[in-house]
Amino acid sequence: MVGGELVLAALVILLALLLTLVLSHFLPLLLNPKAPKGSFGWPLLGETLRFLRPHASNTLGSFLEDHCSRYGRVFKSHLFCTPTIVSCDQELNHFILQNEERLFQCSYPRPIHGILGKSSMLVVLGEDHKRLRNLALALVTSTKLKPSYLGDIEKIALNIVGSWYDMCKDKGRVNVIAFCEEARKFAFSVIVKQVLGLSPEEPVTAMILEDFLAFMKGLISFPLYIPGTPYAKAARERISSTVKGIIEERGNAGSSNKGDFLDVLLSSNELSDEEKVSFVLDSLLGGYETTSLLISMVVYFLGQSAQDLELVKSEHEGIRSKKEKGEFLSSEDYKKMEYTQHVINEALRCGNIVKFVHRKALKDVRYKEYLIPSGWKVLPVFSAVHLNPLLHGNAQQFQPCRWEGANQGTSKKFTPFGGGPRLCPGSELAKVEAAFFLHHLVLNYRWRIDGNDIPMAYPYVEFQRGLPIEIEPLCSGQLQPRTEVEGNSSWVAVAAGPPQRRRRSCLRRHHDRTPASSPPSCSPASSLLELAV
Ligand code: HEM
Repeated sequence: MVGGELVLAALVILLALLLTLVLSHFLPLLLNPKAPKGSFGWPLLGETLRFLRPHASNTLGSFLEDHCSRYGRVFKSHLFCTPTIVSCDQELNHFILQNEERLFQCSYPRPIHGILGKSSMLVVLGEDHKRLRNLALALVTSTKLKPSYLGDIEKIALNIVGSWYDMCKDKGRVNVIAFCEEARKFAFSVIVKQVLGLSPEEPVTAMILEDFLAFMKGLISFPLYIPGTPYAKAARERISSTVKGIIEERGNAGSSNKGDFLDVLLSSNELSDEEKVSFVLDSLLGGYETTSLLISMVVYFLGQSAQDLELVKSEHEGIRSKKEKGEFLSSEDYKKMEYTQHVINEALRCGNIVKFVHRKALKDVRYKEYLIPSGWKVLPVFSAVHLNPLLHGNAQQFQPCRWEGANQGTSKKFTPFGGGPRLCPGSELAKVEAAFFLHHLVLNYRWRIDGNDIPMAYPYVEFQRGLPIEIEPLCSGQLQPRTEVEGNSSWVAVAAGPPQRRRRSCLRRHHDRTPASSPPSCSPASSLLELAV
């Protein structure tokens, strides 16, 4: 009898728990009848798994397509265990980003806090965020003023692009490289050089990279792979202690002032030691994966558009033809890379490296016909705006020309770097890196994507196969090992001949198109073209 009572009591408790779970899941629906239309899915997980279902990053994905067509561009849902408003509307996204700390607040899921650490800029709020951000902006400015800023980036690009020559020599003229890996190598070397003043050859750089990869693996697999979290935390601790060591060493060296990012950081009295380490990790994190993905996206989309590649190549030949042997690119040269900038913008629009950001409502917010209830999660989805055909004609097509004459600075319909008080401080660095890498790539190789690989949003974006590309050095290539020039092991660019006359008006080019040479599509189905050079 006692056993029967126990079973009954357990059943009652279980029922009560279930009821509480169901009630707490659906209660916000009842309490907020004026919230936008939408659905909450099942208790606990809500619609999270459907929201996170992988899809090509240049498409909306079935969840957003389905919900937008059913409920409109702003709808409610239950994501990441929280009642949520999802915004695919450019005006509301802008409003959310501009009202940071007034009506909305950055709010990344708890396990991410655990991995990034409590002093990470993506996690801190209010005055702490302002303080860290001001320092970040000062650091970006001081880095840009450094005379070796552009030269450091170009040298690293030259050495990576140059190293493929050796591979081609070993294995015949054509060779397949895992492009994402090469782009990562480049972006990591640049950011470690910019932030810590370390060169790729130094052993400590390899150590940081190893820990950093483990840290990243845990971070990006969230929230699909929660068991990865402790592993990422351990990696964070290891990388923190290495960075702490580097900071201490530099601090002890005192007068050996290199005038770099780390010196500015060290001279700040406003930050605790922990904040300084966190600051370095934020910069490495921000500057590594996103930037390497941007470069991979550019190569991916150009790999499908021989015409755009021709225009980019012609632009870079023009720039290089005016330079002396081994002369580095200058900021004036960078300003001349106009078509390259259009290509970068278009790769950001089509590739959607950051699909959405996490916010929460600090109070009940009325915006137009919507009510966003206090405490709810708010997700401004950038990809939905980037791929909206009402805002971008032929939104599915990769058409760099659309950026000609466009004022992107204040545009609400193009926000790859976020906006408002949390606008990415590294956007300019990422674009310079992409442009400089592309410069040496297009001048020295023809390439084609080996097989089929598309950028997938998991929602974190990744090329499933690491973007294998077949590369072949160009006869007109302008790279030469420095050994042949100065007895050093790095690579230099030698002067180019006059640029070939390829430039045609963008407008004309798109009018010229016949169905047989239809514009390259953002969609993965479009054919891969062998690039005629
Ligand atoms: C293609 C490259 C990049 C993309 C697409 C990108 C995108 C973004 C986005 C969307 C945000 C806003 C996050 C939010 O509002 O919650 C952000 C913030 C941030 N990014 Fe980037 N980023 C890139 C490159 C970089 C680089 C090169 C760095 C470092 C040098 C960097 C450092 C940061 C930092 C520190 C923040 C936090 C800013 C804050 O909260 O005030 N990013 N980035």
